[in-house]
Amino acid sequence: MEQLTTQKAAFLDVITDRRSVRHYDPSVKISRDEITEMLKEATLAPSSSNLQPWRFLVIDDQELKEKLLPIAFNQQQVVDASAVIAILGDYEGFKAAETIYSKAVDAGYMNEEVKSSLIQNINSRYSNREREVIKQIALVDGGLVAMQLMLVAKARGYDTVPMGGYNPAKFKEAFNISDRYETIMLIALGKAAQPGHPTVRLDVEDITFWNEMPASVSGK
Ligand SMILES: Cc1cc2nc3c(=O)[nH]c(=O)nc-3n(C[C@H](O)[C@H](O)[C@H](O)COP(=O)(O)O)c2cc1C
Repeated sequence: MEQLTTQKAAFLDVITDRRSVRHYDPSVKISRDEITEMLKEATLAPSSSNLQPWRFLVIDDQELKEKLLPIAFNQQQVVDASAVIAILGDYEGFKAAETIYSKAVDAGYMNEEVKSSLIQNINSRYSNREREVIKQIALVDGGLVAMQLMLVAKARGYDTVPMGGYNPAKFKEAFNISDRYETIMLIALGKAAQPGHPTVRLDVEDITFWNEMPASVSGK
């Protein structure tokens, strides 16, 4: 625990130092225990109605990473990183409401009455909802957990790269992922062999508007 505390960099250092890293030391294997810890920390991210529709498929087997390589357009990080984590969105994620809100009751955060009314509300909002709407919610929640995972990894001295560069249909087929799940992104996780290259950002003044969108950018 003490070792972990000293490993944890200051938050601002973590967000300024994080870069997409594409060169990994293939000899470094992050333990499943530590990956699990990182995922646990990542899931402290917020989600719509706290439904946490994210699911993780951790690919840490070398043969499976090799199988993923062509599906991810031969991006070398797929095989050199310690693991590739697929962030999935569960179209049936709302069905976990009972589990989630029962835990909240057990923890003393709400009573049974509040739980029942929340679950009723969730069921009426989600059951029979268009797939596209559920997908949009899962994409937003999945993006939040993905970002948190990348920062958690950085804080622990590891690096990541988020990847949209893969064929989702082939990925789902190769890894036996049913249509119950949306593939949101892949994240390579490992120990950098070379730092990520620096990138630039738009000036915040050019992308921030106060109280109203000026006519010059309103798009009307
Ligand atoms: C949704 C998403 C998909 C991305 N896909 C890839 C990818 O397939 N391969 C890759 O090398 N980088 C990928 N990136 C990384 C971006 O190129 C990178 O985040 C961006 O250039 C900014 O650099 P930085 O992450 O180092 O700050 C992706 C990033 C995001 C957010």
